[in-house]
Amino acid sequence: MKVIEVHDLTKIYQTRLRKGNVVALDGVTLEVEQGEIFGLLGPNGAGKTTFVKALLGITQITSGTALVAGLPPQDPLSRSRVGFLPENHRFPSHLTGLGLLEFAGRLHKIRPGRIHERADSLLQLVGMEKWAGTRLRKYSKGMSQRIGLAQALMAEPDLLLLDEPTDGVDPIGKVEIKEVLKRVREEGKTVFLNSHLLSEVESLADRVAILSKGKVKRIGTVDEFTRRSLRYEIEAAIGNERIDIPEKIGRRISITTKGMTVELIKEEYINQIIDQLRMKRVMIRSVTPVKITLEQSFFETLTGAEEKPA
Ligand SMILES: Nc1ncnc2c1ncn2[C@@H]1O[C@H](COP(=O)(O)OP(=O)(O)OP(=O)(O)O)[C@@H](O)[C@H]1O
Ligand SMILES: [Mg+2]
Repeated sequence: MKVIEVHDLTKIYQTRLRKGNVVALDGVTLEVEQGEIFGLLGPNGAGKTTFVKALLGITQITSGTALVAGLPPQDPLSRSRVGFLPENHRFPSHLTGLGLLEFAGRLHKIRPGRIHERADSLLQLVGMEKWAGTRLRKYSKGMSQRIGLAQALMAEPDLLLLDEPTDGVDPIGKVEIKEVLKRVREEGKTVFLNSHLLSEVESLADRVAILSKGKVKRIGTVDEFTRRSLRYEIEAAIGNERIDIPEKIGRRISITTKGMTVELIKEEYINQIIDQLRMKRVMIRSVTPVKITLEQSFFETLTGAEEKPA
């Protein structure tokens, strides 16, 4: 089942300034399946928050269509299926963690008897039982985000929309948040998150899209983004041996005394390279397909260049 279906979505902010209008989303098409963790990546100003606001029905779309759980975002039924954690949220700091969950429960019109049951299980899910009675103003950024996730989950939504959930959180806090999100996915819920923290998303998301200047530049699984199966690192004592790589097979990227990196046109050509090395009695230590990080892939998608500047 598709939880998010967006087709040719455009959002133009009308500004009063002379600068004119801002095209925040420019013909975005994407779909998210139930049970996925989906990451929307993009530089500052790419349109990520605007996209989430459109899914929540907070911002009016200029053209195109958006469906959340099969319903238009403005439909109250659709709203009730979505849990939301805003970017830079400011929950009232005098509330305790439990107080915030009770407040969210009342907002969602959950019956009073059920509110505490729900709050208890969510405090456990996000590992905040011990801090339930502490006021939010004493929470660390990581704790605020975890209680924020709990409030977003109060009404048992099918979809969790998270705007930069790990921004400003320390490394341990980030790991804890990722664990919570994986548990949420195990329950069959869908998680859609905005982020510019690529290494976070790399180890968490099933699929990602790269948004730039309001347009989707690329969409796919994390594996598709980071795999570059036709490039191989060959660890071998090549020394002075001449290894020919005809143009119709591929090209050499680099060579050192420790080995070489090649990029081939077809996977099976690796055998030809290995045959040559063996014929010349070169000792082969390893042949490894090269993987790139999501960050490298992101950079290449945005600039078209292969090397990230140092
Ligand atoms: N209410 C608004 N009125 C006018 N322009 C806006 C408004 N909100 C956002 N914009 C503009 O729309 C574009 C997209 O903004 P948006 O906040 O969606 O980007 P973002 O990808 O979430 O960025 P960030 O990574 O900084 O959070 C930007 O150029 C921004 O200045
Ligand atoms: Mg944003």
